[in-house]
Amino acid sequence: MDEKNVKCPQCGKIITCTGNPGEIVNVTCPSCNTLGKVTFDRVISIENAAIEVHNLRKEYGDLIAVNNISFAVRKGEVFAFLGPNGAGKTTTVEMIESIRETTNGEIKIFDKVIKTSFDEVKELIGILPQEFHSFERLTVRETLEFFSKLFKRRANIDDILTGMDLEDQKDKLYMNLSGGLKQRVGVAIALVNNPEIVFLDEPTTGLDPKARREVWEFIANLRNQGKTVFLTTHYMEEAEYLADHIAIIHKGNIIAEGTLDELINKYGQGTILHVRNCKDRNASNILKENDFDVSISGDSDLAIKIDNKERVLEILSLLRHECIEYDSIDIRRSNLEEVFLHLTGARLSEEI
Ligand SMILES: Nc1ncnc2c1ncn2[C@@H]1O[C@H](COP(=O)(O)OP(=O)(O)OP(=O)(O)O)[C@@H](O)[C@H]1O
Ligand SMILES: [Mg+2]
Repeated sequence: MDEKNVKCPQCGKIITCTGNPGEIVNVTCPSCNTLGKVTFDRVISIENAAIEVHNLRKEYGDLIAVNNISFAVRKGEVFAFLGPNGAGKTTTVEMIESIRETTNGEIKIFDKVIKTSFDEVKELIGILPQEFHSFERLTVRETLEFFSKLFKRRANIDDILTGMDLEDQKDKLYMNLSGGLKQRVGVAIALVNNPEIVFLDEPTTGLDPKARREVWEFIANLRNQGKTVFLTTHYMEEAEYLADHIAIIHKGNIIAEGTLDELINKYGQGTILHVRNCKDRNASNILKENDFDVSISGDSDLAIKIDNKERVLEILSLLRHECIEYDSIDIRRSNLEEVFLHLTGARLSEEI
């Protein structure tokens, strides 16, 4: 049985509940009788996991920043930890990195409990902290040499400069680099010990779209080299583009987890074909007769659910065959924004 503290949304009382991993338990507030449900995270154990987290908890005084969360990261994947400001991302990742003390819970990296094996584990991980800054008056090469000396295990600095496309910048002072280049140096620092796992906390915050894309390509490349990447982000596009597996964290709890497709299929609307300004009142009936799931939005727009891409052509030929006129057609797939909205009632972009 696990124990979890939740805050009553009505009166604010902290209630301690018990339940089994994976169970959803009904709870009644002893102060105001408000009814609610509490989900207990599944205990996830993956063979050959890079990271395993069990019932991890962090309290800052009265604030429960991380509420008994459990998850695992597979070797060689990009794992995105996605959530709005204040969700508990940095607190979690810094507990895994041994930078912050845990209140409770157990963390294993490559099957080693980090509390007792940190010296060993430290050599295997690289870290880009949130809002990273380096020494202003060291050159890029000096910076990498400095950080490299902190480890027994060392990568070749020239290889890192080449891999991160920083060769032309190597003699420039850190303070004279653009924001995008500074972030790239940050990722390069995280690689000085040739780590197996790279932790990147908000690696693209504050970057313009071009610099962000460049950093994404370097992150994708880390996966291609076989490294495991733990990516903390509040950008859903970043998670959608890079992640093999996504955990969504909200107010210290993991509220959903899976691949992008799994999350969209479970919590999103799937793929919808919209027919804008359809001139034929009978169009929706015709589509329904042909086994399409159709709803009418606004005055004359049709929204048709697509469960199989082959059916798009069927719709187009049906519209043509029946001489149904319309202004335009677009196809939209649900995204993580919609998943987050479904799960929390709030837009991820509005919570940032
Ligand atoms: N050292 C601290 N002392 C007290 N409260 C803290 C401390 N660090 C974080 N918090 C609080 O814990 C909660 C989680 O913070 P955390 O920084 O982990 O969130 P985050 O998801 O990383 O947010 P962001 O996207 O803004 O980086 C927030 O309410 C924050 O104010
Ligand atoms: Mg953070």
